[in-house]
Amino acid sequence: MTLQQTPGPESVWSKVEGIAYGGDYNPEQWPQSVRLEDLELMKEAGVTFLSVGIFSWALLEPTEGTYDFGWLDEVMDNLASAGIRVALATATAAPPAWLVRKHPEILPVTADGTVLGPGSRRHYTPSSAVYRRYATGITRVIAERYKEHPALALWHVDNELGCHVSEFYGPEDAAAFRAWLERRHGSISALNAAWGTAFWSQNYGSFDEILPPGAAPSTLNPGQQLDFKRFSSWALMDYYCELVAVLREVTPGTPATTNLMASSGCKALDYFDWAKDLDVIANDHYLVAEDPERHIELAFSADLTRGIAGGDPWILMEHSTSAVNWQPRNQPKMPGEMLRNSLAHVARGADAVMFFQWRQSFAGSEKFHSAMVPHAGRDTRVFREVVGLGAALKQLAPVRGSRVESQVAIVFDYEAWWASEIDSKPSQDVKYLDLLRAFHRSLFLRGISVDIVHPSASLEGYSLVLVCTLYSVSDAAAANIADAARAGATVLITYFSGIADENDHVRLGGYPGAFRELLGVRVEEFHPLLQGVQLKLSDGGLSSVWSEHVQLAGAEAVQTFTQYPLEDVPSLTRNTVGDGAAWYLATFPDPDGIEAIVDRLVAESGVAAAASADAGVELTRRRADDGRSFLFAINHSQSSATVHASGLDLLTGDRFGGSVSAGSVAVIAED
Ligand code: GAL
Repeated sequence: MTLQQTPGPESVWSKVEGIAYGGDYNPEQWPQSVRLEDLELMKEAGVTFLSVGIFSWALLEPTEGTYDFGWLDEVMDNLASAGIRVALATATAAPPAWLVRKHPEILPVTADGTVLGPGSRRHYTPSSAVYRRYATGITRVIAERYKEHPALALWHVDNELGCHVSEFYGPEDAAAFRAWLERRHGSISALNAAWGTAFWSQNYGSFDEILPPGAAPSTLNPGQQLDFKRFSSWALMDYYCELVAVLREVTPGTPATTNLMASSGCKALDYFDWAKDLDVIANDHYLVAEDPERHIELAFSADLTRGIAGGDPWILMEHSTSAVNWQPRNQPKMPGEMLRNSLAHVARGADAVMFFQWRQSFAGSEKFHSAMVPHAGRDTRVFREVVGLGAALKQLAPVRGSRVESQVAIVFDYEAWWASEIDSKPSQDVKYLDLLRAFHRSLFLRGISVDIVHPSASLEGYSLVLVCTLYSVSDAAAANIADAARAGATVLITYFSGIADENDHVRLGGYPGAFRELLGVRVEEFHPLLQGVQLKLSDGGLSSVWSEHVQLAGAEAVQTFTQYPLEDVPSLTRNTVGDGAAWYLATFPDPDGIEAIVDRLVAESGVAAAASADAGVELTRRRADDGRSFLFAINHSQSSATVHASGLDLLTGDRFGGSVSAGSVAVIAED
C-alpha cells in the first residue's frame, strides 16, 4: 500500500526545538525511584527528545485484549512536565509470548526452512496477515490513548525494520511474493521475459508455480533473486505503511518514521525507495570499533542518509555513547570521540542527536552496551561527556534547518548493489562499495563535501559526478548521468558500470552498454585479475581487481596498462562531451592512483574544500536559506590544527581563533 500524503502531517521540526537531543528510553526496565532520578539527570544533560516504548508490547498488553498503560501514562506525563518530547513507538518490534503461542505461523522462516523462534526480538514476518492484524491492533490502541498527549511529537514505527532478518521464505511470504510479481510484471509471459527463463528450462506457466529463491542445486535465476530482493524491501515497507495508515487515521497531524540503518553494512533495503513514505528520515549508526577509519565510515553513512532525505535535515535516532556489545571486541569510545561523532552527524545534516539508550540496562543481552547513563551512574566520564554534548547542541540551535553544501555527487543505487553482487559474475572481488568508498574517502580527506544521490536524482548544479560500479542502470538514469556531463559536469564512471538493464539483461554490442557513447569507449572482453595480482600502469602506479580490453571510440587515453596481454590498452580515458567531460576508469588503482585521479578530477571540475585546513580536520559547511553559513571543523588528529575561517565559534561563544585543538570541534558561524 502507499500512503496518502495530502494534507499530510505536521513537520516534526515544528514540535521540537533547536537540535533535538536524547535517545531510546526504556523505563519499563526500572523501578519508579530510578525513573524519578532519570528526570533529574535528563534535565542536567539537556535532553529534549526520547523514543519510548519500542519493546514494550508484552507489558502494555500482558494478555490478549487486556492492557496496562499505567506506567506509560506516568512516564509520558512526567516527560511532558519536564518539557521533553517523545517519539512514541508502536511497540511492535517484539511480539508478546502469548501471541506466538497462539499463532506460531507469524514466525519468520529462513531460506533453508528454519523457523526462527521467540526469546529474542523481531520474531515475525511482515507478510503474516495475522501479525499485521495484531500489530495494527496494538498500534491503534496506543494511538487512541496518546493522540492528544502533549509529549507526543512523532510516531516511531516498529524498530529497525529488516534488522537481524530481512528476507522471509515462509508460505505467506511466498504467496505475497507471487502477488507482488503479478503486480510488477502483469503477465507470466512478461515475467518469463524479464527473468530470461528460456535459459535452463526455467519457463513458468503461471504465477502459482513460482517460489522464493531458496535452496537449489546450483545458482538461481538472477532475475528471480533480484526481484526477491526488491520484494523483500517492499514487504517490510508495506508493513510499515499499514501501521502508518492506522496512525494517520487516528492522529493525522502527527508525523511518523522508522529508524533506518543506512551505512556500508546494510544492503538489504532500498532506502531511496522507502524515503517517499517517511515523514522525516531517521537513521541509526554504529561504529566498527576496530576500524581505524571509523569516522570516515560514519561520514559515508551520514552523507548517504542525507541523500535518502533528499538533502533535508534528518534525525540521528541511535548511535552509542561508548562501546557496543555485539562486536567481537567492544572497545569504548576514546575521550571526546562521542562529541566528534555526534557533531559529525550534525555537520552532515542531522538536526537531532539520539542514542541507544538513555540508561544502561542491568539485565538482558544488551547490558554491556553503553548508554547515556552508565552502570556506574552519574559520576562517570561518559555521563560528563553526555552533559557536555547536551550543552554543545544547545549552542548549535542556529544551525537547525540549514543544508549541507556540496559540489560533488556520488551516485548510489541499492538495486545496482544487489545486482552487481548476485553470484556468477566475472569476479567475486568486484564489490559495489569498494571504489565508491575509496573516492568518498579521498574527498573526505580533502574536506570536499559529497552528496550521495540516487541515479534518477537531479544532478543539476554538481560540478563533479562519480558513478562507481553502477552495474545495472535504467535508460532514464543513464540519460540523466549523460545530461550532467553535457551540461558541464566532469563525470567519472568506473568499470562494471552500465553493463545491464534493470532486469539484469546485458546491454549488447560491447561494454559498458549504457555508457559506451557517453564515454567514447568500447570493451570487448573483461580481464579480471587473480587475487593478489597487481598490474603496472603507464604512470608507474599499481592496480588490482580488474582490467579489461578498452578500445577508444572517440575518447583519449589518459593512462594505459603496460602488461601482456593489455600493453598500451587504456586504463583511464577522457571524452569531451558537450560542456563537460566523461572519464572512464577500467581498473582499481592503488591509494596513490586514486589520489592522482581525484587530483585531476578536482582540478578539471574546480570543486573546492569547504575551507583550507591542516590535515586531519574534517570539514563541511551548512548554509541557511538566508545565506548564513556554518563551517564545521572536526579535528581527528592528535595535534592542534589550523583552519582558515573567521566568525563566531558557536561552541565557545568566542570569535574563532584560527585553530582547533587536538580531538576538538569548532562550529564557526562565518562572517
Ligand atoms: C539497534 C537497535 C537497538 C539496540 C542497538 C544496540 O540495532 O535498534 O534496539 O539493540 O542496536 O546497538
